[in-house]
Amino acid sequence: MSNIDYSGRVAIVTGAGTGLGRDYALNLGKRGAKVVVNDLGGSLDGTGAGNTAASLVVEEIKAAGGEAVANFDSVATVEGGANIVKTAIDTFGKVDIVINNAGILRDKSFIKTEEADWDSVLAVHLKGTYNVTRPAFANMKANGYGRIIMTSSGSGIFGNFGQANYSSAKTGMLGLTHVLNIEGAKYNINSNVIVPSAGTRMTKDVMPKEFFDQLKLEFITPAVLYLASEECTDRGVYINAFAGHYSRSQIMTGPGINFKEIPTPEQLQENWDKIMNMDEDKYHTDVNTMMMHALSS
Ligand code: NAI
Repeated sequence: MSNIDYSGRVAIVTGAGTGLGRDYALNLGKRGAKVVVNDLGGSLDGTGAGNTAASLVVEEIKAAGGEAVANFDSVATVEGGANIVKTAIDTFGKVDIVINNAGILRDKSFIKTEEADWDSVLAVHLKGTYNVTRPAFANMKANGYGRIIMTSSGSGIFGNFGQANYSSAKTGMLGLTHVLNIEGAKYNINSNVIVPSAGTRMTKDVMPKEFFDQLKLEFITPAVLYLASEECTDRGVYINAFAGHYSRSQIMTGPGINFKEIPTPEQLQENWDKIMNMDEDKYHTDVNTMMMHALSS
């Protein structure tokens, strides 16, 4: 077991003024990373901006002997994403770690989800991840090193009532993770996914207090710290973390069946139990490997 240390590493944590991101930033700083603490401020639904939460986190990191800089851009614009990465490069010379954590909620049942509710949530979570990660990826590629963490959600992996927008955005981030792993492999760029459940302002009003108290946000940080480290060589894994529980979820493929000729729908109906069977399920790192494996078995 090695001592996980980020000396010489530069990390960007988006949405790090409060909640989970704040704790990631503080702990990365404690373990030697130079940290860009991004947060535009604002409320849970994404309205408002301009509070000084990111500056306070920077002061805390510095007070503990670390190095950090605040950035107040919104991840939701291409210019904002570019400026967050520019802040890292101008201040610390490079980007090694990106933790895509900024988030908002606009929970409504699907029928009540208006276009603005859909667009604003996708703009922060999914497009925001694109906006920050794309310029960061270019720098990582040039340096031959990168660790990218996506923040998904149980809502994205399993679904949750009233979160059509949020769930879609959080599942979209899984797709991006897989492509970044394929395109980043030869540059030593890994991307993995944290699937947290934690008591923060985001969950304060949607869970009973007892449960909220049990889901201490500090339980998530060690998983993110490990995924962000040089020691972690996994790619594309989804780590569930909550209340001291850590596990892996993944999209798996069952063995299925192969037909030599084009089958009729009735033949598929007849064999449906074999098609649906998930015994001996298998994880695949890309679509071509999945298809080759399926056709060769
Ligand atoms: P939080 O509301 O405490 O923190 C989110 C932070 O993101 C806030 O500081 C906010 O100002 C910032 N932010 C929002 N929009 C931004 C933008 N456009 N640009 C820059 N910063 C922006 O929430 P929490 O719980 O710490 O959530 C962190 C991440 O974890 C989010 O992506 C959330 O969806 C995800 N998550 C949280 C869960 C939980 O149980 N708390 C469960 C599953 C996922």
